[in-house]
Amino acid sequence: MSPSGVSPASAAEDQARAAFLQRYPEFARTARIDALRAADYSRLDVQGQVYLDYTGGSLYGESQIREHGELLNRHVFSNPHSANLTSAATTDRVERARRSVLEYFNAPPGEYVAVFTLNATGALKHVGESYAFAPGGRYVLTADNHNSVNGIREFARSKGAAVEYAPLTTPDLRIDVRRLDDLLDAADRTRPNLFAFPAQSNFSGVKHPLDLIERAQKRGWDVLLDAAAFVPTNRLDLSAVRPDFVSLSFYKMFGYPTGVGCLLIRSLALQKLVRPWYAGGTVNFATVRGRAHLLAPREAGFEDGTLSYLSIPAVEIGLRHLESIGIDTIQTRVRCLTAWLLERLLALQHSNGRHMARIYGPVDTTDRGGTLALNLYDPDGHLLDYRRVEELASLQGISLRTGCFCNPGAGETAEGLTDDDMRAGLAVGADVTLHRFREVMQQRGGKNAGAIRVSLGLMSNFADVHRFITFAEGLRDQARLAIGAVSFDVDSCRVMREGS
Ligand SMILES: Cc1ncc(COP(=O)(O)O)c(C=O)c1O
Repeated sequence: MSPSGVSPASAAEDQARAAFLQRYPEFARTARIDALRAADYSRLDVQGQVYLDYTGGSLYGESQIREHGELLNRHVFSNPHSANLTSAATTDRVERARRSVLEYFNAPPGEYVAVFTLNATGALKHVGESYAFAPGGRYVLTADNHNSVNGIREFARSKGAAVEYAPLTTPDLRIDVRRLDDLLDAADRTRPNLFAFPAQSNFSGVKHPLDLIERAQKRGWDVLLDAAAFVPTNRLDLSAVRPDFVSLSFYKMFGYPTGVGCLLIRSLALQKLVRPWYAGGTVNFATVRGRAHLLAPREAGFEDGTLSYLSIPAVEIGLRHLESIGIDTIQTRVRCLTAWLLERLLALQHSNGRHMARIYGPVDTTDRGGTLALNLYDPDGHLLDYRRVEELASLQGISLRTGCFCNPGAGETAEGLTDDDMRAGLAVGADVTLHRFREVMQQRGGKNAGAIRVSLGLMSNFADVHRFITFAEGLRDQARLAIGAVSFDVDSCRVMREGS
């Protein structure tokens, strides 16, 4: 350890870094992130942590917390539903944050409203429950989608709309645009039709083409763009592309605060939403005797109850933080590191010449971000239990994500699972979990479900990537059984350790 508490790089790491910099000289232009990491995120290196789950959530800088703490300590803030002094001060901050969100995404004045929600899922639920799905109308979504977008199909179905999935091509896991066009063309333009896709996949990292937005709108569709995995490392410019609805979570962009997301609604589309209920905070008037209510206009009609009013000012701080680093700098950095990681993983071989890693989705950085889904295999080609890999990585201070990442469609396509496979998996009944499902798939000719996800983000550095590659190299020539058995289970998306 050096006096700073940070372990010095090994000679092997220095050598690898030199090769990396020679191959990706533009990485040097992102050096200000190394300086910021040392100053504002020192906890990572002091503790020797390698954080590789940026798609799960980004990391906050100490300065964000400090600035937020100082703001709270300096002011008296209170429930914003009043006109009193403290309430008005709070409303002021919330509205400042709202303006900063619209400005950050370059929304043309008056064209979008920003609704604060709990998270991206809260934003998506608003669309699901308020979109005027109806018989004769359709909900088309790509097979690559987070479950919070998949779940909207239950609202569509219950209101009698048809639900259809646009498939992905293999092995790249990109949208099959020809098949999508057929689905979009089949719409009855007189009925409400909603098309939903992610700007970037939280499974494969694929950046889906944003020109699909206009392509669908021209055919009479409203478009829901799930930007949750895209905006942490890319600029979304709402003056260039104009989706009707955009969902995102701020903790995925800059780590803090949690509990605040946003639904951006295009003003034209706002008129098409019908809220199924009202709540405190969303009405201009409500009567019990008269059994009537008048919904508040614009975003206020969607912000149920009391907003997370102490956290929301931290959104403005976070956006400023991101701006000060520069989203283009982050993107360049993540692209260089992703390219290196892809190359090194593809080159990994056991002594018998078998490849160690299988990557799902694109294997170069064209139209892809820094999220990689992969599996590792032993010298006989047997799958290594990804949960055990996660556990072994943790022992080395490396935080990965494993499972299906709430995106079953991308994983099913990646593994080539068929309708018969699904029937066999679902035959397990009420006890079916991803782990149990994977066991059934393994019995069906060695198929698989689930993967390891490595995702890079704003504070990723070369050492993070190098440490992961070194960890993976440590599995060379290790038989599946030799790496030991996993000691935790995952139940309802919660990790259960023995005795917990
Ligand atoms: C693409 C995508 N959409 C939606 C979500 C849901 O976000 P949240 O859990 O913050 O609601 C996620 C979370 O991982 C995501 O990656």
